[in-house]
Amino acid sequence: MASQDELKKQVGYKAVDDYVRSGMVVGLGTGSTAFFAVERVGQKLKSGELQDVVAIPTSVRTKEQAEALGIPLVTLDTHSRLDVAIDGADSVDPDGNLVKGGGGALFREKIVEKASDKFVVIVDQSKMCDALGPHFMLPIEILPFCHEHTMRCLEALPSMNGAKAVLRMGSSANNKCDGDEIAVSDNGCYLVDMKCTSPITDAVRLADDIIKVVGVVEHGLFCGMTDHVIIAGTDGIEVKDV
Ligand code: A5P
Repeated sequence: MASQDELKKQVGYKAVDDYVRSGMVVGLGTGSTAFFAVERVGQKLKSGELQDVVAIPTSVRTKEQAEALGIPLVTLDTHSRLDVAIDGADSVDPDGNLVKGGGGALFREKIVEKASDKFVVIVDQSKMCDALGPHFMLPIEILPFCHEHTMRCLEALPSMNGAKAVLRMGSSANNKCDGDEIAVSDNGCYLVDMKCTSPITDAVRLADDIIKVVGVVEHGLFCGMTDHVIIAGTDGIEVKDV
């Protein structure tokens, strides 16, 4: 049986093989699944199978990986539209709405992926769920200033349905909160993981409410953004068009 890493590699490689063509501007996601898509872009540029591709990374980690592979990088300041962005997710609901940010890169992911003509999500079967919420804590990036107040405001939102706010500790790249230091994002902000005990019934409404809280930089609800989901399971790979 294929290991989880092998499944991640399969979807990462397939996304690049199916959706990236020479001359494109490509968004490179963050995380252990997106890692393989970045690897594949690097391989194909090196072999000459892809040419004239430029990429926009969604985190410092991805930028470093791409640089090491020799992938030419640009920014949204010089290229405001992308042809395709490829990224992993923490939860995917049946409509392709996502929770992202387990790796702490949600702000850069969202700004890049919103600017992309096509957004391809790559996951293994474990990320699929019936409803967002209890499946994976909802990450929110907030300013450090008065962060405890911001966390209380988030908890008080009626649409949050009683979810508790947990300040991420340790590395920004996990939400296990297993360190003594407060985790700091690539943008110098804090990360809060909302522990939802019940399904999020109206993700669009919740997204609107969260972004209105002063102190919030961005949240990990990615609603209505996905074009394709490539899912790896033990029975093979499935592509869902949203
Ligand atoms: C990064 O901030 C995240 O949004 C990741 O894309 C997400 O956590 C999926 O990561 P993995 O592929 O490592 O599970």
